[in-house]
Amino acid sequence: MKAWFIDGFGNYENLEFGDFTDTAPLKGEVRIRVRAACVNPIDRSVITGRFPWMQMPHIPGAEFAGEVVERGEGTEAPERGRHVVVFPKLFCGECYYCIRGEQSACLANKHMESAPYIIGLQRNGGWSEFATVPARNVMEIPDGVPFEQAVTLPVDATTALHLVSRCRPSVGEKALVMGAPGGVGSFALQMLKMYGCEVISVVGNREQADMVRGLGSDHVIDRNLKDIVAEVRSITGGRGADIVIDPLGSSTLQTSVEALAPLGRYATCGILTGPKAELSILRLYSMQIELVGSTSSNLPDMYAVLEMMGRSKLRGAVDSTFQFSEMRQALSRLDQHGRLGKIVVKI
Ligand SMILES: NC(=O)c1ccc[n+]([C@@H]2O[C@H](COP(=O)([O-])OP(=O)(O)OC[C@H]3O[C@@H](n4cnc5c(N)ncnc54)[C@H](OP(=O)(O)O)[C@@H]3O)[C@@H](O)[C@H]2O)c1
Ligand SMILES: [Zn+2]
Repeated sequence: MKAWFIDGFGNYENLEFGDFTDTAPLKGEVRIRVRAACVNPIDRSVITGRFPWMQMPHIPGAEFAGEVVERGEGTEAPERGRHVVVFPKLFCGECYYCIRGEQSACLANKHMESAPYIIGLQRNGGWSEFATVPARNVMEIPDGVPFEQAVTLPVDATTALHLVSRCRPSVGEKALVMGAPGGVGSFALQMLKMYGCEVISVVGNREQADMVRGLGSDHVIDRNLKDIVAEVRSITGGRGADIVIDPLGSSTLQTSVEALAPLGRYATCGILTGPKAELSILRLYSMQIELVGSTSSNLPDMYAVLEMMGRSKLRGAVDSTFQFSEMRQALSRLDQHGRLGKIVVKI
């Protein structure tokens, strides 16, 4: 089969297109004809070498959807021809956390302190014509939902739902979303609205402002025109935000924490701008702030976002769509500012 793969770390030129040995599904696996994939920051980290212990050659691609073509012998899974998405979280199903339904914390991840346990990183991903994956990671796409929409869900919508839920949002609370036009942000803001929060989105230009308003954001702050903390205080009557969703890491941590109200929750799932920053412990306890770390998601999160999309309650914002041959261009788009949501590749 044809695939995009790496045989060592480097820049995007290092990504090769060519023949890759396809594997027949074993018991408990499903082979999928991939129809659409997304390009995410985690794929960039895989290609450029953030996880030096990875096995080579490797097919990146944590987020993809397609049709079932073959099921391993005796494997229960959607039938041949069914449209499915692949939940990227790998999990053993047997550890302390898995049996409690917390697949996000599965102890089988040998690199838990620094890397997610996902398809596309710790196992070949979906930037290929076919992909063989565990059957329990395969879920049917609701009728009427096209591949190009369903494929926006497995990485960012699930992560956003897990992240937002862990902040225990309640009706009427004020929530600030950093990176709102991005993959995680665009879903987090929709979910905060569903919880009944008043949402303030941080954007970088006018098009992004229009986009997040279209997704339901109540207020918008252009970070290039306004002081974020002062604006949040003004919108919240001086109190601050009850929740700040911030997957951006070091460059925004200070601002995010300063924008919090007493008893506020700062929630992170990413380090887009770096992993380290200073935090005042005095402020932390004086303001009774909670730091919420969150990664990946649990199986019910994936079912929930599919169901919401099937009922048109959740929308994947798509910035751009590329052909299979244009994977390097799709990656370059990931590096550009001013994007409006996700990058989809038709396969
Ligand atoms: N742990 C997990 O399970 C998990 C799952 C999904 C994602 N993540 C991580 O979460 C992070 C975000 O992912 P994503 O897919 O949402 O990324 P993305 O689509 O690139 O979105 C990032 C957004 O943040 C904005 N931004 C960048 N720098 C900023 C700054 N200094 N201040 C304010 N806004 C800024 C960008 O705006 P511009 O247009 O100006 O660039 C963009 O809208 C990544 O590190 C990713 O790896 C983790
Ligand atoms: Zn487990």
